[in-house]
Parts: sequence; C-alpha cells; structure tokens
Amino acid sequence: MAREPQPTLATARLTLRPFRAEDAEQVTAAAGSCEIARTTLRIPHPYDPRMAEEFIASVNRGWADGTAAVFAGVESSTGTLVASAGLTIEPEHRRAELGYWVRVDRWGMGYATEASESLLQLAFTTLGLERVHAHAFASNPSSIRVLMKIGMKPEGVLRRHILKWGLWQDMAMFGILRDERSARCLDGP
Ligand SMILES: CC(C)(COP(=O)(O)OP(=O)(O)OC[C@H]1O[C@@H](n2cnc3c(N)ncnc32)[C@H](O)[C@@H]1OP(=O)(O)O)[C@@H](O)C(=O)NCCC(=O)NCCS
Repeated sequence: MAREPQPTLATARLTLRPFRAEDAEQVTAAAGSCEIARTTLRIPHPYDPRMAEEFIASVNRGWADGTAAVFAGVESSTGTLVASAGLTIEPEHRRAELGYWVRVDRWGMGYATEASESLLQLAFTTLGLERVHAHAFASNPSSIRVLMKIGMKPEGVLRRHILKWGLWQDMAMFGILRDERSARCLDGP
C-alpha cells in the first residue's frame, strides 16, 4: 500500500526527516562506530558506505510499502546527522518495533529520548498503531533507560537470546499500548 510522502517531524532540538542518498557518508561515519554495533542486532561491523546506501534505500522502500517509518535525526543547531530513529511496522497487527542509534559524541544529551517520544506520537496518531515494542540487551542500560523514560513497560527478559560477538546476551523486552500513551501526562514530572 503506497502512503503519503514521509513527513518531517520537529522536536525541541532535532529535525526528524526522511533519509536521503547523500546521507550515506554521515551514516557510515556514525553507524560505523564499534560502540553502535556492539549493542545492536542488525548493524554490521566494520561498516562500509555501501551498507549505508542499502540501509537508506531499504528504509525509504519501507515507508513506501507501509512497513517502516525511519528518520534521520538532524541536530537543528549544527545540521549534523546525529541519530537514526525508526519504527519497523507490522501493519496486519497494527504494531511496530522502535529502534534507534545516536552518534557516539552526542550520547547522554537526551537525543534518543527526544526522537523516540516523537516517534511514539507518530505511531499512535498518524499511523494509528495499537502497540509499540522495543528490545534492548540487558547489558545496555542507556537504551533501557530511554525506553523507561518514554513510558514503555518491561515485558520480560529472553535469557541468552542472542550470541553477540561471542557473548550470550539476555534481551529485555518493552512495550507501550495506545491507551497507556494517551493516559500519560506528558507535561508532568
Ligand atoms: C542507546 C542510545 C541510543 C542512547 O542515546 P542517548 O541519546 O545517549 O540517550 P538519552 O541521552 O536520551 O538517554 C540516556 C539515558 O541513559 C542514562 N545512562 C547512560 N549510561 C548509563 C548507565 N551506564 N547506567 C544507567 N543509565 C545510563 C543517561 O543518564 C540517560 O538517562 P537520564 O536522562 O535519566 O540521565 C545510544 O547510547 C546508542 O546509540 N547506543 C548504541 C546503539 C544502541 O544501543 N541502540 C539501541 C539498541 S536497543
């Protein structure tokens, strides 16, 4: 099912816009960090520009066919591509999986939280989804903290679920439902 053109979303400090072919160099530089690959499932290491080109082409195809809504997070103050944040959508179940990375030199600035909040808003309004879920290695406290900050609930741990770089990883599962999101007071403490 073809969709409307992918929107651009504004957060306090980021512009979340569709990826463009010319982003490949910045994606390679950012996603190519060992620190990004270490705690993700699908980012290879080493990472080369063709992988960035294929990533960009695939997420743009995903928007067109309704199976993805993935955004480049551009820092408004500098124009630098600092993040990727997106939803992998399963339309028949009206649910999506949230995923993200942030350039290593921008960690701890709240960007993953800011982008993810915006994606939840998109998921439950424009996209009409019922559930958004995410997973993080149990050994990835910053990602778990992001998921908790945006109101996701822990839904269990899949023990030794992933063998990553020779080490078993427990996978922590999180989710949020449409009515839980609307019940949250976003301006509250
Ligand atoms: C996970 C990741 C996206 C977080 O991005 P970020 O922009 O730094 O996240 P935020 O700044 O929004 O929030 C990070 C939170 O984790 C906390 N945190 C960081 N390191 C921590 C640690 N070792 N223990 C506990 N909390 C930690 C921060 O203090 C912050 O919480 P706070 O706002 O309450 O202080 C980033 O580290 C990253 O790209 N990692 C590699 C890719 C990845 O793991 N992606 C997720 C796959 S599930």
